[in-house]
Amino acid sequence: MVDWELVRQDFPALNRRINGRPIVYLDSACMAMKPKQVIDAMNEYYEQYPACAGRSVHRFGEEASNAYAGARKRFARFINAAQPEECVWTRNATESLNIVASSVKLDKGSKIITTSLEHHSGSLPFVERARRDGLKLHVVEARPDGTFDIEDWKEAIDSNTGLVSLVHCSNVTGTIAPLEAIVEIAHDRGAIVVADDAQYAPHHPMDVQDSGVDFSAISVHKMCGPTGMGVLYGRLELLESMQMCLYGGDTVSDVRYEDGVILPEYLPPPEKFEAGLQNYAGAIGAAAAADYLQSIGMHEIEKHEKSLIERVLKRLLEMDEVRIFGTSDASLRVGLVTFVVSTVPSAHDVAGFLNDEHNIMIRSGWHCAGPFHYQMGIDPKKGTARASFYVYNNMDDVDRFLEAIESLIKASS
Ligand SMILES: Cc1ncc(COP(=O)(O)O)c(C=O)c1O
Repeated sequence: MVDWELVRQDFPALNRRINGRPIVYLDSACMAMKPKQVIDAMNEYYEQYPACAGRSVHRFGEEASNAYAGARKRFARFINAAQPEECVWTRNATESLNIVASSVKLDKGSKIITTSLEHHSGSLPFVERARRDGLKLHVVEARPDGTFDIEDWKEAIDSNTGLVSLVHCSNVTGTIAPLEAIVEIAHDRGAIVVADDAQYAPHHPMDVQDSGVDFSAISVHKMCGPTGMGVLYGRLELLESMQMCLYGGDTVSDVRYEDGVILPEYLPPPEKFEAGLQNYAGAIGAAAAADYLQSIGMHEIEKHEKSLIERVLKRLLEMDEVRIFGTSDASLRVGLVTFVVSTVPSAHDVAGFLNDEHNIMIRSGWHCAGPFHYQMGIDPKKGTARASFYVYNNMDDVDRFLEAIESLIKASS
């Protein structure tokens, strides 16, 4: 049994009082708070061995090299990658997706498939790749409740399809896509699958071998890790076959100079994608975050969030003035809810009221998901409001949030 009140104590930011009152943080789908275990691991690097990994033979260099290599192994375990070399450190999930989109090999004339539910980071890199190489781009439309019809995928993925880019868990509807089924169809027809796991990895056990996915983009800052850190998982043979994106220091095993010609020999993955001095503290923090979540237990985290979101959905669905997006079936979604309140002009008014009157921090806007907002007939300027729950939230937070929404409706009706 997890003691969720003890978990809360790991997060120093929860001790903040604003205007003398405690806060409720419900914006974890954007940025998760950081536990002291992550902060301590990063501080230890900065305070004890703040050196470069893989280059210097001195003591600090050796300690940094060991910590950096160890961090990759620990993160590989977190997603059950077959080998650590399949995990490339990036700055965020967006960079991970861009590396795949710009560098993966695709046949001339092949088709790329994406969806109407993607975060812009999951669609735009592929829109641009299609434009660059004159490839066809097909959009599979999500149902209004954020789920997919598997028949649409069977129809869309044909033998001409080179790549499918799919948001595994939506940051708008919180719904989980049938990744394994889509991977099976895609592989049957010779296509590779890129999963946008930015919202999935923080909340579920990850197993890239079991899902069979070819690439996965992970956002470390959404899983209690440091900002400016992401991971690109890729099957080794695919990473090996890809073009490099950045060239320079740390990407080469040799650079000869013969007859006035510079002749580089490049390293295999992951180094070929990690040019220059890296974010060592970030990688160490990422591994600490992975260890932290695993120490709670990913299944426990899933269950905890489900219990919170069930109550949120039930109560919000009873309010006539609230329209929620995504299926009302809590078992098909993670702990976030996106909604509008008909009695206030825009979602920013909802977020402003909750912040100013109740110390509750939620997100408002279009959540980098313009196409789905247009599909739902929502003016992106007015946007939608999103409350997202994580390991440090409890029923008290849920109740404070629901009471605040009720008081907003009363004040605005
Ligand atoms: C579903 C989804 N994909 C991709 C991203 C982009 O992640 P990052 O900020 O790590 O680039 C986000 C961020 O909100 C997201 O929610």
